[in-house]
Amino acid sequence: MSYNIAIDGPAGAGKSTIAKLVAKRMHFIYVDTGAMYRAMALYLIRRGVGAEEKEKIEKVCQEAQISIEYQNGEQIVLLNGENVNGLLRTEEVGNMASVSSPNRAVREKMVQIQKELAEKADVVMDGRDIGTCVLPDAQVKVYLTASTKVRAMRRYKELEEKGETCDLAKIEADIAERDHRDMTRELAPLQQAKDAVLIDSSEMTIEEVAEKIIALCK
Ligand code: DC
Repeated sequence: MSYNIAIDGPAGAGKSTIAKLVAKRMHFIYVDTGAMYRAMALYLIRRGVGAEEKEKIEKVCQEAQISIEYQNGEQIVLLNGENVNGLLRTEEVGNMASVSSPNRAVREKMVQIQKELAEKADVVMDGRDIGTCVLPDAQVKVYLTASTKVRAMRRYKELEEKGETCDLAKIEADIAERDHRDMTRELAPLQQAKDAVLIDSSEMTIEEVAEKIIALCK
C-alpha cells in the first residue's frame, strides 16, 4: 500500500513549497493538484469561456485532457499533450481556476486522476480537498494556513520576482475573495479534515514547517 501525505489550505499558505520539500526529503512524488485545475482554467480561457458560463464550462471541460508527467523530479502538466507549466501561475489563470473548479464535471475528471496517482505511488499531494475528498485515508493530513496579510505579501514577492507589475492591496482582496469562494462552494469546499493537523505558517520558516510534517510521518 502506498503512503500518502495530504496537505490542504488556502492560496499562498506555502503548500507547494512545503509539499515539494517534504516530497524530496521523503523520496515521495509531489502532486500539485492546483496546477491541474489551473491547466483546465487555461483551456477554458483559450476557448473563450466566461467565468459565469457554468453550462459551457461543463461541456468544454470534457475536451481537455489533463495528464501529469515527471521530468527530473519536476511535475509537468500536459494539456492535450502540451507542456503548460510556464503558463499556469498568472492571476488570470488562478482566478479562472477558482471559478471553474467548483464545477462537478471538472472535479470528477481531476479527482479520478489524483486518486490513481496516489494509489500507485507514495505521494505528497496538496490542494483544497485532498484530506477530505481525494485521499480520505491518507496516513498524514495537514491543514496549512497563514494570515491573509502574510499570504498576500508572499504572492506579491513571487510576482515581483517574475517581473510582473502588481498591487499588494488588489492581491490581498483577490486572496480574500478566492478564500471565500473556495470555502463556501457547494462541492468539496476548502475545510480542515477532522483528522488533519493544523499548522499556521505565518511566523514559521519553510524548514520548520517541513520538519514538523516529516515528524508526523514517524
Ligand atoms: O493552489 P492553487 O492556487 O494553484 O489552486 C488554484 C485553484 O484551484 C484554487 O482557487 C482552487 C482550485 N483547487 C481546487 O478546487 N481543488 C484542489 N485540490 C486544488 C485547487
